[in-house]
Amino acid sequence: MEWTKEQRYRRLEEVSEKELTDLKREVTNCSWRQTYHIQPNTGLLNDPNGFSFFNGEYHLFYQWFPLGPVHGLKYWYHMSSKDLVNWQDQGVAIKPENYYESHGAYSGSGIVHNDLLYLMYTGNTRDENWIRHPYQCMAIMDKKGQIKKLDNPVITQVPAGYTDHFRDPKVWKENDLFYAVLGIQRKNETGCIVLYESPDLLEWQLLGEVDTGLNDFGYMWECPDYFELDNHGVLIFSPQGLKPTGDIYQNIYQSGYLLGEPLDIKDKSLHHTGFTELDRGFDFYAPQTATDEKGRRILVGWMGLPEIDYPTDRNGWAHCLTLPRELSVKNNKLVQKPAAELKLLRKDEQSKKAVLTSERKSLEGFNGKTYEMSATFHSIDASLVGIEFRATNNGEKTVIMYNSLEKKVILDRTDAGEPFALTNGTIRKCHLDAAAVTFHLFVDVSSVEIFINDGEEVFTSRIFPSEGSEGIVFFAEEGGCAVEATMWQI
Ligand code: FRU
Repeated sequence: MEWTKEQRYRRLEEVSEKELTDLKREVTNCSWRQTYHIQPNTGLLNDPNGFSFFNGEYHLFYQWFPLGPVHGLKYWYHMSSKDLVNWQDQGVAIKPENYYESHGAYSGSGIVHNDLLYLMYTGNTRDENWIRHPYQCMAIMDKKGQIKKLDNPVITQVPAGYTDHFRDPKVWKENDLFYAVLGIQRKNETGCIVLYESPDLLEWQLLGEVDTGLNDFGYMWECPDYFELDNHGVLIFSPQGLKPTGDIYQNIYQSGYLLGEPLDIKDKSLHHTGFTELDRGFDFYAPQTATDEKGRRILVGWMGLPEIDYPTDRNGWAHCLTLPRELSVKNNKLVQKPAAELKLLRKDEQSKKAVLTSERKSLEGFNGKTYEMSATFHSIDASLVGIEFRATNNGEKTVIMYNSLEKKVILDRTDAGEPFALTNGTIRKCHLDAAAVTFHLFVDVSSVEIFINDGEEVFTSRIFPSEGSEGIVFFAEEGGCAVEATMWQI
């Protein structure tokens, strides 16, 4: 169904109870509702926003269009959790109700200051000619969860030399001053980020563009996030407009990081070793990080991408967030590990070992629809080893494998169930040179997140298998290997 502008910009408040109940029923009837991922009650979820640790809890907001699986008038929806696993639904947090956000409360970030959570975000507006005028806005949440907005935006002008694509502030504090990076498009239609400074989160001064040396790297950079980790400076962002090359940049839009020396604020320059994709799967975009009281840097992403139809659309909802991942730096790369608290989800542990010689093997008791599984392949002299999961006897399967000759990890969702996003291909690969390979999978009803060799690489993907698709098969081709696997139902 094509959505008209009127339909996309209808306010939640204008919709009758009956319409919402009907939509909710359609969503609930969807056989692809997730069981342990954050997903919208109705409508479309996109970027994680305002991720922070405040008042003893994690707060995670997300971009939300309530009325259907399309990008329309965006709200911020609020979830909170003490353990990153059990999330409380806190309802709508920011409504697009003021002049400076008439066409959506767009993405932004959170920072704790004076016992309050400051939420800085982009107010999207359009004039009569549908020309965009972005504002950077501030909402302040107290310990009771009450949110008050400032009457006026804190940044009203797009800096000179740039287009109206100016959004997604990410704030941090350093030496008693606050800084924010925002994604922006230069007049010559290339993407970059700009840096602002503030003494109090209210008055902001433009310091200028950050020199990353990437002067022609996509037409827009969305959702930047800057932080320091293990003495490195890390800039995450989601560039649009990169061309697929070899195994990389295969999705419609990318998401990755620059890692290098800490950002030089005086020079506004970031020296780094090049852009690396954060995730090698099909569905990952616009991640955001936060630190917690344990000092961990945790990342959550949107498990989806813009401009793609998903099979859940016909049930009136789309997308979910990824599981929280703890970041660290190893050999000049960002490593992502599933947050330790996810162990709280584990039930019914079982472990098995097997030796495979050019064969396929099921292991007794190993099957399911929602589970965590870690399988290590070693003593590999096979050319290809791997796992088929969410599999049926009639050929439905998602496959994660390691090609030891090409030294590549491969995720194949060609036969994963209902096909979608076919124009971007059904196979993803990345380089990995290792004698042993561990695939650590988190499988939910319609997604999989696979951490390779302790988070050196991650493949995140939606899959839409049929309901009875619960098989797991281990295989080795052209040679042998040993596999040790442990699984927990979730
Ligand atoms: C990224 C993005 C952001 C914007 C938001 C709107 O997915 O386009 O740049 O703030 O989504 O929902």
